[in-house]
Amino acid sequence: MTSQRKILVTSALPYANGPIHLGHLVEYIQTDIWVRFQKMRGHECHYVCADDTHGTPIMLRAEKEGITPEELIARVHGEHFRDFSGFHIEFDNYYSTHSDETREKAELIYQRLKDKGLIESRAIEQYYDPVKEMFLPDRFIKGECPKCHAKDQYGDSCEVCGATYSPTDLVNPYSAVSGAAPVRKESVHYFFKLGACADFLKEWTRSGTLQAEAANKMDEWLSGGLSDWDISRDAPYFGFEIPDAPGKYFYVWLDAPVGYMGSFKNLCEKSLPLPLGEGRGEGAPDFDAYWNKDSEAELVHFIGKDILYFHALFWPAMLEHSDFRTPSKIYAHGFLTVNGEKMSKSRGTFITAESYIQQGLNPEALRYYYACKLNGTMEDIDLSLDDFVARVNSDLVGKYVNIASRCAGFIAKYFDGQLGEFDAAGTGEVQHSSAFDADEIAGYYENRDYARAVRKIMELADRANVYVNENKPWELAKLEGTQENRARLHTVCTTALSLFRDLSIYLKPILPKLTTQVEGFLNTPLTWKDVYKNLQEGHRINTYSHLLTRVDPKQVEALLEVNKQSLQAAAPAPEPHSQQRHAEHQQHEIEAIAETISIDDFAKIDLRVARIVNAEHVEGADKLLKLTLDLGNETRTVFAGIKSAYQPEQLVGRHTVMVANLAPRKMKFGLSEGMVLAAGPGGKDIFVLNPDEGAQPGMRVK
Ligand code: MSP
Ligand code: ZN
Repeated sequence: MTSQRKILVTSALPYANGPIHLGHLVEYIQTDIWVRFQKMRGHECHYVCADDTHGTPIMLRAEKEGITPEELIARVHGEHFRDFSGFHIEFDNYYSTHSDETREKAELIYQRLKDKGLIESRAIEQYYDPVKEMFLPDRFIKGECPKCHAKDQYGDSCEVCGATYSPTDLVNPYSAVSGAAPVRKESVHYFFKLGACADFLKEWTRSGTLQAEAANKMDEWLSGGLSDWDISRDAPYFGFEIPDAPGKYFYVWLDAPVGYMGSFKNLCEKSLPLPLGEGRGEGAPDFDAYWNKDSEAELVHFIGKDILYFHALFWPAMLEHSDFRTPSKIYAHGFLTVNGEKMSKSRGTFITAESYIQQGLNPEALRYYYACKLNGTMEDIDLSLDDFVARVNSDLVGKYVNIASRCAGFIAKYFDGQLGEFDAAGTGEVQHSSAFDADEIAGYYENRDYARAVRKIMELADRANVYVNENKPWELAKLEGTQENRARLHTVCTTALSLFRDLSIYLKPILPKLTTQVEGFLNTPLTWKDVYKNLQEGHRINTYSHLLTRVDPKQVEALLEVNKQSLQAAAPAPEPHSQQRHAEHQQHEIEAIAETISIDDFAKIDLRVARIVNAEHVEGADKLLKLTLDLGNETRTVFAGIKSAYQPEQLVGRHTVMVANLAPRKMKFGLSEGMVLAAGPGGKDIFVLNPDEGAQPGMRVK
């Protein structure tokens, strides 16, 4: 193993004005898996996060609820922490940006930037709500689009024609807070001179800190020129007042990333005083060792791609010029879609973390599914609900847990819970996982390519199942009497459980709770360094009890149902931070009827010639035929709704075209692994597409 690293890891700080949803969880689960992996490998790793508590939306939300912002953020902090814990996300500290530690560091950074001449003030003119007596962020000004004249558009872009503009361009603007016509008013603002940091940023961007896609994005921004960043807001505002500037507050995005420092500082202090002796106790990190300019520790931020701008431009520039170290890595991920579309309140796919837990769904099922999908890039990831059910059931229940559940009972029943010899010779193809496998899997985790890690682990699980299938312990147990059979049974079950132990070690970062149960059952801790060392002969295991229940598609249906909101109820509160995300909130309420797709979308569809080698009726299904398709080098089972038009025997031997990369779908009658193409309105008029005989199974259709 490499020498011990010191790593401080963060996830973005969620806003304190809304619930945690499955989109957020992509990030927190991604980070938690990485942190658990690093800890398992023996590194000193600290994972901190906090609620992002400042800004106008939080202030207004509290007002609407008739409580103080402090009360609001205290309540939401509890809710967020509860939701994260529910998904086994284990922060070393979950704090708040509304804290002394964060204030102190924000002031310090500001002071140092000011000393370097990087802060400038000047008067600017902005819209002001004369009734509410406050300046209005762009998002809180509405009016008529200057281009297409659609009514009730937000201050920065039109959702009808897509035009972008500034709020002063709106026709008949009004305040979204009070409805009053805003007036123009001048006020002094403070600016961070980002332009002066351009050379530093150019170099930093290419220093290996960013993913290639992110570095390219940065180049775009850098070549467009960097303008000064407005870091102040006028009262009334919920945030930190700027020292020596009464009535002026730090803009929320100035103190938000400083919240990473604040949370870590709080962790350092919480860990003190020491129970024993002098100096720092074991596990109590030293703030400076992580944040000083010459720090040798790693600072790793996990974020969504929508907030790259803040983390890759403003934040490193702030740190660099206030004599702190800059981040070692910024890992940006894509956005979550559900069933291929943006999360939608009307479809019920805007799913809250709380509702998922309340429906009794297994949080580790989602952790596993996200792991299957996450590959370390900024691509969006899709939660296809049918695929989710099929995948979790087939991998975790059907492959992984199955190994233990088929073998454990025999050890208890015939061998008093004691393990026997490991089958070194008889495993043949089924190699006990080697140091080589372990390193390969570790490499995937390190690179956040969890999809590959899972694929590899499931390959090993397949091999273990082959071993069990070939050696049939249930048969060996039936063959009464002979000493030889008993010994063989002992060896086979011991070997299978050893393989199961290794798989459990590999899966531990993803499935922390399940694998803790496995530790109890196997009566041994699951540590990375033990992988590929066999369980000792004579080692006693505990009675196997049920480890995992299949996900029931009905639970998923119920989940969508409870998250469904009428359009009326779903009308979003303005969220001024992210233009992009705001636009999403609006757009996902509009159902697409027939959308134009790009050539890239089309290229994603893998169309193949398939030969129908078998077709049969499905008992109990009135529309479906079960087809067995030959794709050249593999066969697939597909349930096709073509029974009204074909007798099975008419189809056998014919060629057709199928979508070969459609996610498998679990249907009542079995797993459907693709779709065949047909034309026609339905009933008797369905025509399965039938390419010329020249087309051979497996050929790509273009
Ligand atoms: N408060 C800021 C972050 C400040 S960090 C100093 C913020 N908060 S957020 O609640 O809107 O988002 C928190 C994180 O969740 C962000 O990294 C964001 O990209 C991520 N996600 C929010 N919605 C998401 C999806 N639908 N899909 C994937 N990630 C999403 O931004
Ligand atoms: Zn418009």
